[in-house]
Amino acid sequence: MDQALIDRIRTDMAYEYHRTAPPDGFPRFHDIPVGRHISDTFEALEQKYMWPRTWVMACRAEDIPEPGDYIVFTDLGVSLLIVRGTDGEIRCFYNTCQHRGAPVVREDRGSSRRLRCQYHSWTYEIDGGKLVALPDERDFVDFDWEARCLPRASCDVFGGFVFVNRDLDATPLAEWIGPAAEMFKPFECESLREVYRESVIVPCNWKVTAEAFLEVYHFKHIHSHNGVSILDNRGAAMGLYQNGHSRMITPFSEQNQQRVDMTSWDDWKHVDHGQFPTIDAVPAMVDCTSTAVSLFPNIIIPLGRFGFPINLFWPIDKSTTRLDWIYYAPVDDGAHAWGDGELPDHWRIRRDQYNAIMGEDMMNMAPIQKSMESPALTGIATNYQERRIWHMHEQIDRIIGVEQIPPELRVEPLLGPYIES
Ligand code: FES
Ligand SMILES: [Fe+2]
Repeated sequence: MDQALIDRIRTDMAYEYHRTAPPDGFPRFHDIPVGRHISDTFEALEQKYMWPRTWVMACRAEDIPEPGDYIVFTDLGVSLLIVRGTDGEIRCFYNTCQHRGAPVVREDRGSSRRLRCQYHSWTYEIDGGKLVALPDERDFVDFDWEARCLPRASCDVFGGFVFVNRDLDATPLAEWIGPAAEMFKPFECESLREVYRESVIVPCNWKVTAEAFLEVYHFKHIHSHNGVSILDNRGAAMGLYQNGHSRMITPFSEQNQQRVDMTSWDDWKHVDHGQFPTIDAVPAMVDCTSTAVSLFPNIIIPLGRFGFPINLFWPIDKSTTRLDWIYYAPVDDGAHAWGDGELPDHWRIRRDQYNAIMGEDMMNMAPIQKSMESPALTGIATNYQERRIWHMHEQIDRIIGVEQIPPELRVEPLLGPYIES
């Protein structure tokens, strides 16, 4: 987040406040086909072509600090084993033994220099998944050791966050995230540590959960208290990045500006966060706006100078999603002082505030899914300030491959000219 970007966001916000219509030439969106959220056909396309070909966040590098440490990742249904090798590199293998298919490891996490299947003790090394031992080799005719290695998946680390992608030919993670990475630069993400996590099953399609965080059109309608909203959606400035990622910076409402002694929507300054350790390099804008980044397909991060929650949306079936949020924050001494004990009061208060907002969003989601299934809804209308939603849908179609999608379920690619390089 260099000064040029901050200046650009300020200019964009001023523009958004004063416009009376979308920018000249901005496309008219056709309805998003509702079948994308409720049909078996679209769910099957996502499962077959999208989730196996996209980077998803699986864990943190510090979850597996030592060679041999491993963690099992099952959030997309297929069991994957993320292992730190003897050379310190983190790699990903399918957790499926190449003998008769038993899971190689059964615990969620552990540590071992060799991965030994508990069923018949086929044993794999951790740097390449090579099969290195099996009992009674004499009983196999012309045994091909090479053909029985553990299959690999792509694995890479961004800011201490470990991502996996089942596509072995995936675009490298850094290239995939591309310019969206600039939003995380001041945060020294490697040094952040988990504060708490929550997980809720929501009866709706995963895109209903994602879409709720991609616009602030709804904000004053469901997040106001006593008629006061903390944000003013009219000034929301959005940026669309390649590969479906995006950002959204939303100014404080007047009432909220007064709370932190701001004299105008862009009177940005560092505010006092009391007992929370803060990151000084994070620009003042982040303290005095809602600054959020989405990483396609299932990550939304509202940034803060004392850390941020990462919201993750995991599809369980076409109308069920697991919504996780994990709060990461800077620490003074490499660890949170309270260790495994109770959260201190300032964090309990912050957790309760954030959970309350999440609760307001989630209250909508199940009824929306049900209502979408009504024959009354023939298509989903979206507008200019909801364009990050359209951007996500375009990217879904690009990954699935538009030719695989029945014409009545596609969205037209319209936002190409608005993607930042
Ligand atoms: S299934 Fe793993 S060793 Fe037999
Ligand atoms: Fe919301």
